[in-house]
Amino acid sequence: MDGFVMNAKEYLKKLSSELDGPIRSYIADEEPKNLIESSRQYPYAGGKRMRPAMVLAACGAVGGRTEDAMPLAVAIEYIHNFTLIHDDLMDGDEVRRGMTTIHVGYGMPTAVLAGDALFAKAFQIMADMDISGEKLKEVMQYVTLSVWDLARGQQMDVNNEGKLVPEEVYIETIKLKTSVLFAAAAAGGAIVGGADKKTVEAIHAYALDLGLGFQMFDDYLGVAGDPKKTGKSAGNDLRKGKCTCLITHAMRTITDEKDMAKLKSVLGNLDATDEECAAATEVLRRNGSIDYALSLARDKVESAKSRLGVLADSEYKDFMIALADFAIDREV
Ligand code: IPE
Ligand code: IPE
Ligand code: MG
Ligand code: MG
Repeated sequence: MDGFVMNAKEYLKKLSSELDGPIRSYIADEEPKNLIESSRQYPYAGGKRMRPAMVLAACGAVGGRTEDAMPLAVAIEYIHNFTLIHDDLMDGDEVRRGMTTIHVGYGMPTAVLAGDALFAKAFQIMADMDISGEKLKEVMQYVTLSVWDLARGQQMDVNNEGKLVPEEVYIETIKLKTSVLFAAAAAGGAIVGGADKKTVEAIHAYALDLGLGFQMFDDYLGVAGDPKKTGKSAGNDLRKGKCTCLITHAMRTITDEKDMAKLKSVLGNLDATDEECAAATEVLRRNGSIDYALSLARDKVESAKSRLGVLADSEYKDFMIALADFAIDREV
């Protein structure tokens, strides 16, 4: 390993191409075509595939064979994609991964069903895994609880819209809506790989922290990212009045009345123009709210990496460290 620098993006690409075949292999040509097409759209197009990559890496990092974790990796990506379909419907977003979202392209009923179908397929894949009954039970516990928690987090996210909630509530919300699935992916991969309980717990804690940093950075991208790169529209979190850590910081620190008025004029205002959103973003930047969110995200990522001391050196461990850095250093 001497002199070797892990490039998370490149390694992620490599794992993503290994995942591509398996991801495409589980959804058969059945009827009705609109359900099949819509449930294939996100998994086939592929996003960053960080969660399935994490399944494979955690399995490899504890000495397991990554091919044994491939079905779990696919299942986790299907679950992630199911939550994206429903999330876009809930958030009223029209573009994801540069494509028309499912509820816009196929209609609301199909979006609900495509999400449900992917969710069911994930459990079919997991039930078929060639691992001991004991491991299967543990993996299922992590995964099922994560989806339950994710639903709680998504409900909190919606309940918080248009409200100013304390930062602890924001952190609890993003832990539930985002981190728990990363954590189930990592813990699941480690279990399949044969890790002991202490190691599984450390890897789980790593992914929980990584997920927090990831979502904080995502909330930054949601206001300041370039839609051409993120493949998602900018400013919609502001228009929907999503109470992210940028907003909690801004609300407790902005003293200038005009700045506060500029920000408030877009928060929760679905008709806010791109120019008005850009002006509010400039306020956030000038006020240090963007730097604050980024430093909060950095702290979580440092904490995530510090959990990996339990692992022996390996290419997979290097990737897990690099993936944590990548979570808060990306344009997409
Ligand atoms: C998007 O997740 C949903 C969030 C939890 C913010 P990703 O940014 O990992 O989405 P893809 O899979 O790469 O498109
Ligand atoms: C997505 O959260 C979380 C889940 C899909 C569970 P967001 O709504 O903040 O993410 P984007 O910006 O739409 O990807
Ligand atoms: Mg969303
Ligand atoms: Mg959302």
